[in-house]
Parts: sequence; structure tokens; C-alpha cells
Amino acid sequence: MAWIEIGRLEDIPRLGARIVRAAEGDIAVFRNAEDAVFALRDRCPHKGGPLSQGIVHGRRVTCPLHNWQIALDSGEAAAPDVGATACFATRVEEGTIWLELADAQVASHG
Ligand code: FES
Repeated sequence: MAWIEIGRLEDIPRLGARIVRAAEGDIAVFRNAEDAVFALRDRCPHKGGPLSQGIVHGRRVTCPLHNWQIALDSGEAAAPDVGATACFATRVEEGTIWLELADAQVASHG
């Protein structure tokens, strides 16, 4: 596992997301209204919808395709839906966002 620097907190608008292209696939990095940062694989566990384009509310994101709600801190779908998408650890230090990946290769910053 390796921590990689992916940019500044202010690079992501509140309730928005940016995409990090990693060896694991696209990862959506979210910032919520409280400036907490979360990272999930950018594929909904339902049919692969782009979670980075979803609506962030509290500690969840609503998928733009069929409105499943996915927990930002675990990647798990809220009941009655079942399933989960990969969740990655993040931390913010002095305004810089760090993301923990199994493989530190990052193709580009989206
Ligand atoms: S693909 Fe996300 S709710 Fe269907």
C-alpha cells in the first residue's frame, strides 16, 4: 500500500468530486459539506454508474443513474439495496489530500 498526494482540498468543490485514474481503475474522490474527503471506485455496485457524477449528501452519494445511495465511508449500498464498491482510505494534511492505493501507479490526475 502506498499513500499518494492527489491535490489540494480546494481543488474539489464542496459536494463535488474529482477523478483519479489509478491502476485499479478510476477512483472518485469526494468532498462533502463538512470538508470530509472520501474515495470510492467510480463504479456504482448496481450497474456501474459514475458515482463521481452523483449527488453528495451527508456521508452518502446518490448514483446519477438509478438513485442508489452509497455510503462514502464504506462503499456499501444503503438498504434495501445490496452491494458495495471499493473504498479507499484518504486523509487531509494541511489542505493536501492523500489517497491510499494498493499500487501507487497513477496514470494522470483527472
Ligand atoms: S447504476 Fe447506480 S443506481 Fe443503477
